[in-house]
Amino acid sequence: MQKTAIKFIWYYLKIFKLMLVLILTLMSLSRLLEQGAQYYFAKLFEHIASAVGQADYWQITFDFIVIITVLALLGAFLRMLADWCSSRLVPHIRSVVIRDTFDYVNKQSISYFVGEMTGNISNKFHQLQNGVIDFFVQIHGFLHDTLYTVITIGILTYLNWMLGLCMILWVALMVYQGFRFGRKRATLSKQTSTLSSQTNAQIIDSIANYAEIKSFSNYKFERVNLLNTLRQWRKAETTEQKAKVKIRACMEFLAIISIAIFIIINTFLLYWQQIDVTTYIFALSTFDRLSWTSFSVNWAVNNFTRITGQMNSALETLAIDPEIVDSPSAKTLKIKKAEIKFDKVCFHYNNQQNIFKNFNLDIKAGEKIGIVGSSGSGKSTLIKLISRYFDTSSGTVKINGIDIKDITQDSLHKNIAVIPQDVCLFNRTIMDNIRYGNVDADEAKVIKAAKDASADKFIEKLPSSYKTKVGDRGVILSGGERQRIAIARAILKNAPILIFDEATSSLDSESEKYIQDSMKKLMKNKTVVAIAHRLSTLREMDRIIVLENGKIVEEGTHLGLLRKKGRYAKLFKMQSDGYLQV
Ligand SMILES: Nc1ncnc2c1ncn2[C@@H]1O[C@H](COP(=O)(O)OP(=O)(O)OP(=O)(O)O)[C@@H](O)[C@H]1O
Ligand SMILES: [Mg+2]
Repeated sequence: MQKTAIKFIWYYLKIFKLMLVLILTLMSLSRLLEQGAQYYFAKLFEHIASAVGQADYWQITFDFIVIITVLALLGAFLRMLADWCSSRLVPHIRSVVIRDTFDYVNKQSISYFVGEMTGNISNKFHQLQNGVIDFFVQIHGFLHDTLYTVITIGILTYLNWMLGLCMILWVALMVYQGFRFGRKRATLSKQTSTLSSQTNAQIIDSIANYAEIKSFSNYKFERVNLLNTLRQWRKAETTEQKAKVKIRACMEFLAIISIAIFIIINTFLLYWQQIDVTTYIFALSTFDRLSWTSFSVNWAVNNFTRITGQMNSALETLAIDPEIVDSPSAKTLKIKKAEIKFDKVCFHYNNQQNIFKNFNLDIKAGEKIGIVGSSGSGKSTLIKLISRYFDTSSGTVKINGIDIKDITQDSLHKNIAVIPQDVCLFNRTIMDNIRYGNVDADEAKVIKAAKDASADKFIEKLPSSYKTKVGDRGVILSGGERQRIAIARAILKNAPILIFDEATSSLDSESEKYIQDSMKKLMKNKTVVAIAHRLSTLREMDRIIVLENGKIVEEGTHLGLLRKKGRYAKLFKMQSDGYLQV
């Protein structure tokens, strides 16, 4: 993705160049015709004033009226065509920009989303697409006005070079002022847009965590935080608006003064007989409009700097290079059974201490591995490395002997079904949420998966059964129910590798039994890596490894390890205290 607003805009200008050239041509022709009409209007004026009583007075007057009408009509028609093309172009550009940005953001690795507030990302998304659209809308007006200015200067220079020179000097002064003011405005608007994103991100973050705010009674604390950011935003925006008013007033003042100066110069040129009456009338009639169009050109230049300021601020967040990218020679992984191997793996998060150092682990095809260990020992990190959510700093993770760095991320993820610690559901129907495991699955398959996950009974009790919307992140469902939806989804995905990060929350024995049954069905013929707490899951495992500080300190079967009375037995006793029996 292009890193600066100018490069970003240039990229899309190139994509739509044919349409833009067409619009530009139509606008040039329309401007020429309109200026022609204006010139004949001046001629008509001179004729009416000077040729009264001549034999062909009415004939010539009528001819001029016909020419003016035809030129004006043709000009208006071509301008309408240009506007029609623009009205088709803008929505097209918007959808292409949103599509491309969405694609790019989705290529980002997990660490990007961990580091950025989601509200901030979506806000930058809006800023970027609004910036591009704003730019194209502005450029349309800008081209209109620039063409008018250029064509008028051309005609005036042709009629009298001194008039042309006056115009050129004056327009140059206006554009220079526009740039000077614009630069100041760009810095201010970048500040404003950064603070606007920050405020929105804060609001979204608070709303998403409404339950925490309520349970900690921290509404006032959140409110004070928001008011602080709002105060900064308001200050920045007031400064920007003040600068805008000043700039506008300066430019309007310049425009009005220059009209007066131009009338004086024009009158002197007529007095010294350097120009005829037609040129005098034409120059005066165009100058009034020209002073406002050059003012708009200036304003557009000014707006461009504001827009690029906002877009640059958005691109600073959005156009970050993805941390993990597919190598050009990456292959598609197509497997039925999966063998996973960690070979001398070292890993740490952003320059922090090593979580894993020369870590080795072989998981045979179809083997079911349970991982236990104290909190922070690296269990979740280990399974994230299999999905390549993060890259190892050295050593390799291999699937069926292939380094996962040589596999496309897309095909790698297609072969892994993950049931995370905290199951997140989309705010869509139950049907859609289960179908997410295989978007091509028909209703019958979704219902079968729900049955296999022992989720059918509670789903059927919901008000609209499979058509019930689950609310934000699945809020209307209990933890156990959400987990069964996630299991149904994984059943539908039917990937050879199953990764399971078990939630520590205890489930009642009925839910536990349901999950146990559904897990059994799900794990059949799969290579399973499960961070397991429940006895029901641990018993199903072929091998259990105990992880402490990124090292395997014990491994064996559930019963074997219990008999050993080592770390596992201790952990198991701590976790099972009270409600699990051997
Ligand atoms: N995205 C991250 N960025 C930086 N550090 C992280 C990140 N994720 C985890 N860590 C750190 O890495 C260490 C291992 O974390 P991990 O999530 O693997 O632990 P865990 O064994 O799964 O713990 P738990 O049983 O509590 O889930 C922890 O000290 C944690 O703070
Ligand atoms: Mg964890």
